Amino acid sequence: MVATNSGEYDRASELKAFDETKAGVKGLVDTAITEIPRIFHLPPGTLDDKKPSPAPNPNLAIPTIDLEGVDKDVTLRKSVVDKVRHAAEKWGFFQVVNHGVPFRVLEEMKDGVRRFHEDGESKKRFFSRDFTKKVVYNSNFDLYISPFANWRDTLACYMSPDPPKPEEIPEACRDIIIEYSNHVMNLGILLLELLSEALGLNSDSLKEMDCAKGLITLCHYYPPCPQPDLTLGTSKHSDNSFLTLLLQDHIGGLQVLHRDCWVDVPPLPGALIVNFGDFLQLITNDKFISVEHRVLANRAGPRVSVACFFSTSVRTSSRVYGPIKELLSEENPPKYRDVTIQEYSSKYLEEGLDGNSKLDHFRI
Ligand code: OGA
Ligand code: NI
Repeated sequence: MVATNSGEYDRASELKAFDETKAGVKGLVDTAITEIPRIFHLPPGTLDDKKPSPAPNPNLAIPTIDLEGVDKDVTLRKSVVDKVRHAAEKWGFFQVVNHGVPFRVLEEMKDGVRRFHEDGESKKRFFSRDFTKKVVYNSNFDLYISPFANWRDTLACYMSPDPPKPEEIPEACRDIIIEYSNHVMNLGILLLELLSEALGLNSDSLKEMDCAKGLITLCHYYPPCPQPDLTLGTSKHSDNSFLTLLLQDHIGGLQVLHRDCWVDVPPLPGALIVNFGDFLQLITNDKFISVEHRVLANRAGPRVSVACFFSTSVRTSSRVYGPIKELLSEENPPKYRDVTIQEYSSKYLEEGLDGNSKLDHFRI
């Protein structure tokens, strides 16, 4: 039994009943509820963590970086590398424009994700909690272990290495997921080159370290929430990736923790959001930061977003990662022990989004 402000309840049974509908949060919203079930309630006290986002302030906005011409002009490329380094050290987040992914592809990707989640019956065939599968749909990967459930459903597709056969991908978004993920892979490789240069390494260093080997495309759907102040769309977390490329629609709600303030990441049509995950922080020995972020629930939705994680996650991996030797010195000794992506990701799935950094487990 779990104690809440409104008394005790059998949380485990309610979680199971919700899970067994296989219809996700979208299924609840379709029944026209006006109050959210208790399993979604933020625990008492957690709301105090909702530090207000400051009033719009140009000095407190995540940077926007224009990638136009970065492959053609050496001087321009140097200035972009400087901007990327600054964003990676200070924010852990930036938006990119002129990134090479066509506007049409961005729009079709959001439409495809919406179609999948709004097709009540077909999506149930993909329902699973087995994260070794290549295509998995469910609500809250950490449903049974997190302090409270999030107002969000997700379709996850492992697109690299070893992608699913096209017919294994839901028809509602099959072609566009493949097309979009290919674009994201190319952009990810370009960003890894810029990051390598920002570290003073050869352009292909991070790629050679297999940082672009794994790609997981997470297609999120945040239904409108009748009581948005009682829950969250996504709890505070940092990503288990080297790099994450995020596409969000016009609704908003993503916030980044910057100098102890929650800063909104405003929707910017045609842009993509880049953020650095825990593995990049680990291999750069804390030079580039993996910053906590969250998504507010909202009444205005549905909100659609697509988060592409450069990570092999729980796939078998033997490659061991630790702080890059060239970056270390007597003044900058390694802060982390060696770890495989699989070991790290297993910890992530085991603990869920409980508000704590998973990097701390591997700190020396
Ligand atoms: C994530 C994430 C943000 C969003 O998938 O890790 O932070 O806007 N998503 O959906
Ligand atoms: Ni995230």
